[in-house]
Amino acid sequence: MGAGVIGEYFLGFCVAVGKDATASAGNVCVGAPTGMLMEVGFVSSVQAVIKKQTNKTRINRRFIASKYSGGKLIIDEILCYTRRVAYQGLLHKYGPLLDLPRYTRTVSLLEGNTPLIKADNLARQLGGGFELFIKYEGLNPTGSFKDRGMTAAVSEALGRGTTTVICASTGNTAASAAAYAARAGMKSIVLIPQGKVATGKLAGAIAYGAQVIQIDGSFDDALTMVIEITNKHPICLVNSINPYRIEGQKTSAFEICDVLDSAPDWLCLPVGNAGNITSYWAGFKQYNQMKSTGLPQVLGVQAAGSAPLVLGPPIENPETVATAIRIGKPARGEQALQAAEESKGRIIAATDDQILEMQKILAKLEGIWVEPASAAGLAGLAIEIANGTLNPKGKRVVAICTGHGLKDPEIITKDMQKPSIVLPKLEALEELILG
Ligand code: F0G
Repeated sequence: MGAGVIGEYFLGFCVAVGKDATASAGNVCVGAPTGMLMEVGFVSSVQAVIKKQTNKTRINRRFIASKYSGGKLIIDEILCYTRRVAYQGLLHKYGPLLDLPRYTRTVSLLEGNTPLIKADNLARQLGGGFELFIKYEGLNPTGSFKDRGMTAAVSEALGRGTTTVICASTGNTAASAAAYAARAGMKSIVLIPQGKVATGKLAGAIAYGAQVIQIDGSFDDALTMVIEITNKHPICLVNSINPYRIEGQKTSAFEICDVLDSAPDWLCLPVGNAGNITSYWAGFKQYNQMKSTGLPQVLGVQAAGSAPLVLGPPIENPETVATAIRIGKPARGEQALQAAEESKGRIIAATDDQILEMQKILAKLEGIWVEPASAAGLAGLAIEIANGTLNPKGKRVVAICTGHGLKDPEIITKDMQKPSIVLPKLEALEELILG
């Protein structure tokens, strides 16, 4: 017991103790005479929770008084809660660590809190001798990591009185923006490159009620257009140029450190418009400053046909089967390169074949099905290990898998062997299975 900030996971513990108990600002434990311990985020959150919960929950004994003394909070009474408090989303959990305006009004689908799955089979396949974890971001509410940034961006927009949001998208941002706008009672407009958006993403945007507009051009053309229109009209841009998107997406780095107790040695992830790599690096740096969790080396991976950060100049006609990262002029390209350099990592390219191969291996060895772009980080890791340019031995590696396989089912079904058909008879089934 003991993990979690008060008000977040459990309130089923004694929270504070008698005269000797103190809780200092920062990360401390408040002990209880029963021997139970609880980690507390901040004194202010202790006080806020105490205040809030005293009205609401069953408390065996009431909070009596607290006062600061020498930078410490002295709590004079025991609080015993018996209610379990459910997860309430990223802004609730990490809001105080994010640079969001005070007027922000939370719009949440309980995003984040995604699993960090140990991938021993895949680690062995890649040569073994290291720990590999998959941060499975496809398990966010709309099936991709975009929900982390979108809860922040749409919450800020709502608080500011915005009624319409807009984005350019290769699909996932569109679905996420549409969902959060729907929940906030806002209108959403999404611009997508014609014919290049996977079915699951387009279907999501439509289902959530977005006005979907196809551009006879690339993602980069669409991004230029949404920037222009939001400069002219009171519509909120929710691409990752929006700083609140970056704030929200930092939370994944926080979660990784919270689970592992430190940053990993290496972080591998796909790079498209470069918002996510920027966010992770900012998140790890912030946590390291606060909690000395260390910093990972960052391996960013682009698709070979859309790799401006590897090749140098922007790509006019980017092409890749990983349509999510089919981007020729990443808006945060400079920051991505800086993150790679500062972290003593790098940005490399993986071919479509290498990406699709990794997508298959991950599904077959670990039961984790991700969309093609989401396998790019791991494909890059495999390339580096095979080349001998990254020695993972004894290291801890986290790969970010950004979107769910269901986003792009056609990539699998178009080449698949049709499942065999048998008569509804046991003998027929036996013959098929047992030969
Ligand atoms: N993986 C997936 C599944 C994505 O959808 C994206 C970006 C990325 C990785 C790359 O992240 O842009 O922050 O470097 N998708 C954007 C979109 C462009 O419109 O959905 P990034």
